Amino acid sequence: MGPTSSLRFCKRNNKTFLRIFMILVLSCIPGRTNLCSNPSVSTPIDLPPSNPSDIHSSLDSLDLEGYIIFHDVHNASKDFGNRYQLPPLAILHPKSVSDVSTVMRHIGSTTNLTVAARGHGHSLQGQALAHQGVVINMESLPSPGIKIHKGKQSYVDVSGGELWINILRETLKTGLSPKSWTDYLHLTVGGTLSNAGISGQAFKHGPQINNVYQLEIVTGKGEVVTCSQKRNSELFHSVLGGLGQFGIITRARISLGPAPHMVKWIRVLYSDFSAFSRDQEHLISKDNAFDYVEGFVIINRTDILNNWRSSSFTPSDSTKASQFKSHGKTLYCLEVVKYFNSEEANSMNNQETEKLLSELSYIPSTLFSSEVTYIEFLDRVHTAEMKLRAKGLWEVPHPWLNLLIPKSRILNFADKVFNGIVTSNHNGPILIYPVNQSKWNKHTSLITPNEDIFYLVAFLPSAVPKSSGGNDLEYLLRQNQRVLSFCEEANMDVKQYLPHYETQREWRSHFGERWETFAKRKHKYDPLGILAPGQRIFRRASSSSSQVSHPIQLL
Ligand SMILES: Cc1cc2nc3c(=O)[nH]c(=O)nc-3n(C[C@H](O)[C@H](O)[C@H](O)COP(=O)(O)OP(=O)(O)OC[C@H]3O[C@@H](n4cnc5c(N)ncnc54)[C@H](O)[C@@H]3O)c2cc1C
Ligand SMILES: *[C@@H]1O[C@H](CO)[C@@H](O)[C@H](O)[C@H]1NC(C)=O
Ligand SMILES: *[C@@H]1O[C@H](CO)[C@@H](O)[C@H](O)[C@H]1NC(C)=O
Ligand SMILES: *[C@@H]1O[C@H](CO)[C@@H](O)[C@H](O)[C@H]1NC(C)=O
Ligand SMILES: *[C@@H]1O[C@H](CO)[C@@H](O)[C@H](O)[C@H]1NC(C)=O
Repeated sequence: MGPTSSLRFCKRNNKTFLRIFMILVLSCIPGRTNLCSNPSVSTPIDLPPSNPSDIHSSLDSLDLEGYIIFHDVHNASKDFGNRYQLPPLAILHPKSVSDVSTVMRHIGSTTNLTVAARGHGHSLQGQALAHQGVVINMESLPSPGIKIHKGKQSYVDVSGGELWINILRETLKTGLSPKSWTDYLHLTVGGTLSNAGISGQAFKHGPQINNVYQLEIVTGKGEVVTCSQKRNSELFHSVLGGLGQFGIITRARISLGPAPHMVKWIRVLYSDFSAFSRDQEHLISKDNAFDYVEGFVIINRTDILNNWRSSSFTPSDSTKASQFKSHGKTLYCLEVVKYFNSEEANSMNNQETEKLLSELSYIPSTLFSSEVTYIEFLDRVHTAEMKLRAKGLWEVPHPWLNLLIPKSRILNFADKVFNGIVTSNHNGPILIYPVNQSKWNKHTSLITPNEDIFYLVAFLPSAVPKSSGGNDLEYLLRQNQRVLSFCEEANMDVKQYLPHYETQREWRSHFGERWETFAKRKHKYDPLGILAPGQRIFRRASSSSSQVSHPIQLL
């Protein structure tokens, strides 16, 4: 009995079965096409037993351009956060979009497995893991040669598994570059677009999810769909900031602009938080001031300025700078960057920059600056990574906490958190900078506070053994909990960025009034709840037919 008659039979019974059968038919599973041949079978989807060796052989028998491995899954059982170890059953190294689609269809129709697309595995709480499921190693998926289109609206087409650093290197060859970044570039396109991609350019260009023209998605049903603002726009918006819940980003069209050659990189210090935040807010309200605005908090550290000197920042007045003493006070560093192309442009910049700086109220002796190439600046965290790796301090637990805090509550937050709850930043940086989201696309899945201006506050510690004198994982987790409890008790409309929750109640509260839409879209694009189980939002529904009608359940 051929596929056509299977379809006819299923249509008679139920629309859902039609869909499942199309999946079966399209994925050409040997011996599966005659499932409907016996009308007396009450459950037409008579799934094979979930015996692991059967799953092995059924996955092995798929016709792929890439390959699947079942051994050596260690690397895909962890992430950068280094707190969870959950090995998958198998890893797919796809060589084409159709590999991804074939595997998704197979998994949805004949197994109860989950699937996690894995970018560079730089998640923090297991979001890119699939315990006993299938991990798709997105970096194996080749880019279409990183195709650059130069024109009125320049763009580049890349694979969802491409690292941003590679995109930068390629696009720079044509004098172009993406506009909006993350602080660290050894992350993949699919990984950051599933969150937002926020850095010091976001006040001007929006986050990375605002700088995408088109996506190619393999949905949870295995369908390959091209989408954009105009075409299949619901899927487009769902996937952006969608925590990997709706589909796998196999290709993305990223907007490009002219790339500068050099940047002037400036740091100044404040001891008064309200002066610091007022100046940050002032700078992000001006489109033509700086190209990048960030900042960080310095708690209980001495010798900060000497550290800057050793990283090639020079003080505008060395005598005064050498006399500066923090006396252990909490300090706030404003960090800004101006792009430039030639010395001539730089001297023009310098005049503008001086004027801008004269409007600010930092501690005058603490003005430091440096001039580096654009790529050196953008890839700055990689330099820090190399140093940490050399000291064995990269592959340690990272109990990071990223919060989005409405402007109206930031003084209150800073007062309690930077001068109370958090007693040092010896374990890693604490970033803080405002953005104005009024120009950001409001239709994506990203959840932000309800005010135009909010701050990103990122606690980025590395846990070390207590014996080494620093704070250990337990201490840092307790500290995070105290910060979160404070926000909750103070009833701040704080949202987590790169969110992680344990309970259904917390996820609902994270999404607020947008929960229904999120859940509805999940039901539509990944009805069996196959994708990104590590986010811990939805539970995988059984592939058996009896549950297909109400498959999505909360965890
Ligand atoms: C050192 C460091 C610095 C960082 N700096 C910033 C920063 O400045 N700004 C910022 O916004 N973030 C930052 N991040 C966070 C980073 O954006 C997220 O951790 C991101 O998830 C990591 O990307 P990845 O490619 O490693 O994704 P992974 O961790 O592999 O995946 C993240 C999630 O997305 C899903 N996913 C991955 N690829 C795809 C795909 N192709 N299609 C659909 N879903 C997919 C995964 O299943 C998972 O749920 C930083 C992280 C690190 C470790
Ligand atoms: C999937 O899980 C359901 C419910 O536990 C079970 O009835 C079914 O046999 C499983 N299917 C496979 C293929 O393992
Ligand atoms: C696992 O990661 C290590 C370190 O990055 C690498 O050397 C090794 O080849 C990886 N193993 C597999 C099976 O991918
Ligand atoms: C935020 O941006 C919008 C649109 O550009 C602007 O009208 C508004 O004044 C800005 N808000 C602040 C506080 O800068
Ligand atoms: C500040 O750090 C020093 C170690 O550098 C430590 O001895 C001291 O207790 C810390 N102070 C506070 C208030 O945490």
